[in-house]
Amino acid sequence: MLDLKALKSRLPAGSLGEPLHYFESTGSTNDIAIELASQGAPAGTLVLADEQTAGRGRLDRSWSTPQGAALAFSLLVRPGTPPADRLMSLNSLGALAVAEALEGLGLAAKIKWPNDVLLADRKVAGVLVESGWRGEELDYVVLGIGVNVKEGSAPPDEAVRWPATSVEAALGSRVDRLNLLVGVLESLDGWLGRFGTKDLQTAWERRLAYLGEAVELHGRQATLEGTLLGLSADGRLRLRDQAGVERIVGQEYMSLRPLDRDGT
Ligand code: BTN
Repeated sequence: MLDLKALKSRLPAGSLGEPLHYFESTGSTNDIAIELASQGAPAGTLVLADEQTAGRGRLDRSWSTPQGAALAFSLLVRPGTPPADRLMSLNSLGALAVAEALEGLGLAAKIKWPNDVLLADRKVAGVLVESGWRGEELDYVVLGIGVNVKEGSAPPDEAVRWPATSVEAALGSRVDRLNLLVGVLESLDGWLGRFGTKDLQTAWERRLAYLGEAVELHGRQATLEGTLLGLSADGRLRLRDQAGVERIVGQEYMSLRPLDRDGT
């Protein structure tokens, strides 16, 4: 169980985490945040759970959040931050915030585009962005983040497509989940108003996994191979394809893997 009183006293001033909805156990914090959003909850609303019984990942995968062992939370963002045409970049922004918080603990985290955070090439956190529209207009965006903190929270290799780890396994010592959560929120708070800036692009690229390496992108329609060059200012991926042409690709591709590895 998380110490809510301590969390409330440490939330980034006047911004994220107000109001805060805490559940000892719930299905999915994203589902709760979506429901709150449709009832008119304000931007900055934070839904936090100690355990998720139906946690969801991208591409219809499940996400495990065992009790007392992980961080699982969803933040409500309203249109404008980011603009509707930059929703894709919210995935990488969530991953960047986790990476920065982990760096605060002395760990070197990488972002596997678009939404995974890696420690020593193993996945430690994932981001699930879901949005709601009113006709043509973007109504809300929910930024869901899950971090494996304690050793028991990382699923075994045979249960996942990409090997997982936990913050404590990588660090070799105990980690306070609240400290980590506050670190992620502080980083998010700093970046949310800075979509499209060179600073954000640089911060992403410094942590981009497989930069300069041969990668394969998988989409619903196609697969693309090339050398990873970096990110565009709006969080799409820049790569040089096999014909030597520089391409910028976005959500038409859902997952990436280096060419010397299996899994996505
Ligand atoms: C992924 O890597 O596929 C994304 C995982 C996202 C998991 C988080 S945990 C908090 C929020 N609630 C959910 O049901 N999913 C996200």
